[in-house]
Amino acid sequence: MNAIEMSEGIYRIGANIKNGDLFEGMWPIPDGVSLNVYIVKGEKTAMIDLVRDWDNAPSVILGQLSSISLAVEDFDYLILNHLEPDHTGWLLGFFDRNPNVQFITTKKGAEVLKGFFGIEDNVRVIKSGDTLDLGAGKVLLFVEAPNVHWPETMVTYEKSAGILFSCDAFGAYGCVGEAIFDNQISDEEHAFFDRESLRYYANIISSFSAFVLKAIDKIEDLKINMIAPSHGIIWRENPATIIEKYRKYARYYKGPAEPEITVIWGSMYGYTQSVLNSVIQGIRSEKVPVHVHQVPNEDVSWALASAWKSAGLVFGMPTYEYKMFPPISAVIDMFERKHVQNKKVFRFGSYGWSGGAQKEFKTRTEKLNWEFLEPVEWQGRAGEEIHKLASERGKDLARQVKAMTA
Ligand code: FEO
Repeated sequence: MNAIEMSEGIYRIGANIKNGDLFEGMWPIPDGVSLNVYIVKGEKTAMIDLVRDWDNAPSVILGQLSSISLAVEDFDYLILNHLEPDHTGWLLGFFDRNPNVQFITTKKGAEVLKGFFGIEDNVRVIKSGDTLDLGAGKVLLFVEAPNVHWPETMVTYEKSAGILFSCDAFGAYGCVGEAIFDNQISDEEHAFFDRESLRYYANIISSFSAFVLKAIDKIEDLKINMIAPSHGIIWRENPATIIEKYRKYARYYKGPAEPEITVIWGSMYGYTQSVLNSVIQGIRSEKVPVHVHQVPNEDVSWALASAWKSAGLVFGMPTYEYKMFPPISAVIDMFERKHVQNKKVFRFGSYGWSGGAQKEFKTRTEKLNWEFLEPVEWQGRAGEEIHKLASERGKDLARQVKAMTA
């Protein structure tokens, strides 16, 4: 990919990561992820965020810099919106080539900069409202956005062009092409980035949803012509679209989310699975969209995204040694961490010689403010009555979900 001029003197460079690695060492990214880096050139030159030494990213951006007659040594400032290593991992490589660069970050960012890289000099600490005049009409305004994604995070706004460099906020998984702007990509690509912005949000940002809402309030007075995140496409035709999407994602934590139901199920020998279709039929009879995820066969990343936006959840889980089926227990662990809150929930599942899953399930989810329907449990093989009951329960959940989101 070449450097892309976004506005006079403002460029996007960056790399697509598509080597099959997991994001944050745990989230599958079958379609990769982009690391976007931005350049603002006045009389002084600033780079906004960097890359990790990952899938050849530093070489890629060095090539792009030379295509616009720039080198690492030409930068006066490196703006660190966020210190997570996907945006800073190559920082020492950059610093070796340019020991005179000044790092711009928040107070907490300066601490993280020291912790990761031992750098204490050449650091300018900013707070919300501070500006950096690059000359030639280019002025950067900094706005702290704590916990979107880490506590040190800020966003940077270029005043003359009205571009918000938002780092993780408003980002998505997925590689980008030369057509990186929202008004250059097809409806199919928009649908892809819609799905991957939700999955990215649920996986990476969801725990901090209250902070996302605060950050959106903070930028509301800025005249934003373009949103340039550090992952995914750039929004220039209608930047409000991605702001509203993120606002919606963030509000899901308070509930209710969308009138949809996510079914997450696991089965040891097929006895719990045998009732799955009865539950799904019950839900579908009420015309409520249903998303089905099997664990551990599928990574939790997708179940988390679909659960995040669903007002209703169903768990199909047998009892395993007096407790929850361990693959579902792992899902619950993730849901606790990511604050999947305020849902209507129903569980069904078989047991061999004793129940116990339901007790642990309720205890483990106490803090998530879930409202439970009566579970459907049975010993061994499910009879016709169990199928009927499970279908009724699915229908009842669907009705309640519709009522709560009406
Ligand atoms: Fe893209 Fe929180 O790092």
